[in-house]
Amino acid sequence: MLTTSLIWGIVTAVCCCLWLIFGIRRRQMGEPPLENGLIPYLGCALKFGANPLEFLRENQRKHGHVFTCKLMGKYVHFVTNSLSYHKVLSHGKYFDWKKFHYTTSAQAFGHRSIDPSDGNTTENINNTFNKTLQGDALNSLSEAMMENLQLVMRPPGFPKSKSAAWVTEGMYAFCYRVMFEAGYLTLFGRDHTRQDTQRALILNNLDNFKQFDKVFPALVAGLPIHMFKTAHKARERLAEGLKHEKLRTRDQVSELIRLRMFLNDTLSTFDDTEKAKTHLAILWASQANTIPATFWSLFQMMRSPEAMKAATEEVNKVLENAGQKLSNSIYLNQMQLNDLPVLDSIIKEALRLSSASLNIRTAKEDFTLHLEDGSYNIRKDDIIALYPQLIHLDPEIYPDPMTFKYDRYLDENRKTKTTFYSNGIKLKYYYMPFGSGAMICPGRLFAVQEIKQFLILMLSCFELEFVDSHIMCPLLDQSRAGLGILPPLNDIEFKYKLKHL
Ligand code: HEM
Repeated sequence: MLTTSLIWGIVTAVCCCLWLIFGIRRRQMGEPPLENGLIPYLGCALKFGANPLEFLRENQRKHGHVFTCKLMGKYVHFVTNSLSYHKVLSHGKYFDWKKFHYTTSAQAFGHRSIDPSDGNTTENINNTFNKTLQGDALNSLSEAMMENLQLVMRPPGFPKSKSAAWVTEGMYAFCYRVMFEAGYLTLFGRDHTRQDTQRALILNNLDNFKQFDKVFPALVAGLPIHMFKTAHKARERLAEGLKHEKLRTRDQVSELIRLRMFLNDTLSTFDDTEKAKTHLAILWASQANTIPATFWSLFQMMRSPEAMKAATEEVNKVLENAGQKLSNSIYLNQMQLNDLPVLDSIIKEALRLSSASLNIRTAKEDFTLHLEDGSYNIRKDDIIALYPQLIHLDPEIYPDPMTFKYDRYLDENRKTKTTFYSNGIKLKYYYMPFGSGAMICPGRLFAVQEIKQFLILMLSCFELEFVDSHIMCPLLDQSRAGLGILPPLNDIEFKYKLKHL
């Protein structure tokens, strides 16, 4: 017994020595300061995951603006100085923008690689996104979203007696329900069943989406979905509803999904389920950030009487100028939606306070990264990361950074403010909830428009109140840090009532 323990002890000690000698990377000349962490493979992942902002600030104090951390077997170079962001982005030729995203998508949604170089498809999916989420395509998306929001928020034939009553609901639950239903209809169109049957189906999808989304951070971290039975089932059910044979029976399917169906059918070797899973990836991208962003925009606006007043005045004015009557269906065109600086500022400020995305690029080869404050050698396959929350909450750039100021993004003429400074130097990158460079979110214009449309309808068609008049701001759910807009840790109750129009 003693001999067995001794042998195991020696084996463990030898493994530790081997790991120390060969498993730990050593910092070489010209490389950024390195944090290997104490745990093999994980490195600093646990500390980073517990509170990324604090972890990065601590390393910034210790090492300066650029440092390397081992995270889940990868070496990640964090660049934390906002003045260096444009320099990072100018090294585009050394970066592989897609590798990380394509691998993560396959891992989380369960399709084979969508990277054309892996041979399963020849579709350039970024081109598809840019073609169908921006430019002329944005008009029809936006128009459909406004119609669907109204269908969900004030359905035709909604009984007058009901509309006169106050409804109390969790604000996050409300935003989730409304944005999911309207967003689902906008992308994937309507089926031919009655509206209540269709609603029941979508709400069933919403439950599955919630189950799946709950484990999303774990899937991105590399855990297999088989570890999560309920979420796995939910993912498969969601994909079932997005199979081409089902989508073909629906009306008013968006151009994005129609083009993706065509390209999936003609350019890929994916089977029916995999094709559906690539659509599920789009459903996730279109909802997972938009829902919490909508919540924070409504919550912060309602909590600030000045914001409510300024937003209501702006909305009344645009509806009046556009000749829109509230008793009818409301429609605003692109120009009218783009000319709402107060709503823009409210949404930006709400996203500044709640966004925690991680912008990632992989080094295609060994190269030297030249930044404002020095040059650093980077090895092939390492990751270069920006964490914009560091700028969003930097008191140099945003004085009193934890306070919601609805007019932070308005200039002295009440137009959109675009000049922000750090150390007296004008910043190119000061607001980045949608990422940056080649991987910037292709749905960002649509996202802002749909949140604006939601706020316009809330302000013009409903009376709104918090149940508790001294409401506290909920904390952010840090378990999703790195993925985008963080949801609130707890829901808050509010009351709404349809106005007599
Ligand atoms: C407030 C809402 C939203 C936020 C904050 C947001 C943010 C982001 C971020 C940070 C990325 C990754 C960028 C990077 O890796 O550097 C991304 C990617 C993406 N977003 Fe959004 N997004 C939002 C809404 C939307 C909407 C409404 C759509 C519409 C369909 C959309 C479609 C996409 C797609 C397709 C990608 C992947 C792009 C690619 O891999 O090529 N997003 N988004």
